[in-house]
Amino acid sequence: MSVDVRTSPLDEQAVAKLADQGLEIRLVDAADVEAIDRYTRADTRGFLGDEPGRDVLDAERADLRNRRCSAVYDPAGAEPEVPIATVNSWIGPLTMPGERAIDAWAVSGVTVAPTHRRRGIQRQMMEAELRTAARLGVPISMLTVSESSIYGRYGYGCAALAADYRIDTRRARWTGPTPDGRVDLIDVSAFRRLAPELFERVRLLQPGQIRPSERRWDQFCGFATGDGDAAKKRRAVQYRDAAGVVRGLALYTVAEDPADFTAHTAQVLSVIAETDDAYAALWRFLVELDLIATLRYDQGSIDEPLRWMVSDFRAVEVKPFDMQYLRVLDVKAAFEGRPLGPGEIAVQVTDPLGFAAGIWTLRDGAVTAAPNARPELTLGVSEASSVLIGGVAPATLAASGRIGVHADGAVERLTRLLAAAMPQLSFWY
Ligand SMILES: CC(C)(COP(=O)(O)OP(=O)(O)OC[C@H]1O[C@@H](n2cnc3c(N)ncnc32)[C@H](O)[C@@H]1OP(=O)(O)O)[C@@H](O)C(=O)NCCC(=O)NCCS
Repeated sequence: MSVDVRTSPLDEQAVAKLADQGLEIRLVDAADVEAIDRYTRADTRGFLGDEPGRDVLDAERADLRNRRCSAVYDPAGAEPEVPIATVNSWIGPLTMPGERAIDAWAVSGVTVAPTHRRRGIQRQMMEAELRTAARLGVPISMLTVSESSIYGRYGYGCAALAADYRIDTRRARWTGPTPDGRVDLIDVSAFRRLAPELFERVRLLQPGQIRPSERRWDQFCGFATGDGDAAKKRRAVQYRDAAGVVRGLALYTVAEDPADFTAHTAQVLSVIAETDDAYAALWRFLVELDLIATLRYDQGSIDEPLRWMVSDFRAVEVKPFDMQYLRVLDVKAAFEGRPLGPGEIAVQVTDPLGFAAGIWTLRDGAVTAAPNARPELTLGVSEASSVLIGGVAPATLAASGRIGVHADGAVERLTRLLAAAMPQLSFWY
């Protein structure tokens, strides 16, 4: 999409509503150093971070260069040029089932100062984001959340879960395959160099993934400014296949147990595997690390094959949580952005903000507005967003009373239409 989101005009409704409260919303140009640094200070404060130093401000400014940064100001405040609310957004690829991607409106850095909380400022900013995305023809919005309870009211639904893994490596003997390729320790800077390119190839295989920013990779590797000596604690490893091509990378840190030198914990930060062989080889290496009693992996898929590759299923504890939230704006474009399975169905989507509302038929890969059809299911836009990429079962939402069922077998038909590989998202954003 060729539109410049950084300069696309502000949403007039939000401008007017905030003005009613004596507040002013403005776009902040990342080239305006003083303004964008004040924006970063407000954003950091909003997430309870330390006051950013010069190096962090410079790095954030570079990261925000390609984003739309909106800030709300209170002219009556003690520091009228410091934002009392922030949000930034950009258009990026969201992987859909079927190894394709669609443009999505990513939203990040949503903060409202504690002095101005619960006056509807976030609501104005979020609705402005959604209206702007819809106006620019972006079919869907996406975000990750600090709290699960916030974004359903704007029509977002959790579409990809992730899971925290805790593996007792004294119980978990490796029983998985032993591939032909080789595993080698590499320098963290080599991981930093290789990872974006490898992930770019893996990204399209996993519905729900996004393309992380350069700064996110720096943060992973401990190279981000403000991280002190973090990089020194990282260990990296690569897997090369029999032909010598790098097909997998892993990154981890080790936390020592001062009381027991054989009971350290390894924290796995990233496993990027392009092939099943790479996955098996890297996890075998990690599970068999000497002096490590516990492996932790905080952002796995909820369906990691790893569980089936060790001798003791209960040696792997799995704690799922909500990770990737989606918000459909254009039902036709979003659902046609993925292959549809066999069958046909008429569904009604309800949407308090209007964007996705309507009755639609899904058939032969096509989604057609059918205002006169009799709907067999009724989904709120949050629920429609949750089932879009196959990570949440329609039957689960129906059983929990969140999908209205008007015809026998309709839930099963929607399930067949939307079946897909389990989605995954490997990065907060
Ligand atoms: C979350 C935050 C942005 C909310 O801002 P706010 O301006 O106080 O929110 P609003 O007044 O616009 O509230 C809008 C709605 O969200 C609800 N809401 C706001 N914060 C909420 C929270 N933390 N949990 C549950 N509901 C919340 C409000 O009750 C209100 O509901 P309603 O419109 O259905 O009546 C603000 O509290 C904040 O900056 N928190 C710290 C940073 C953070 O967590 N940001 C979110 C990043 S994903």
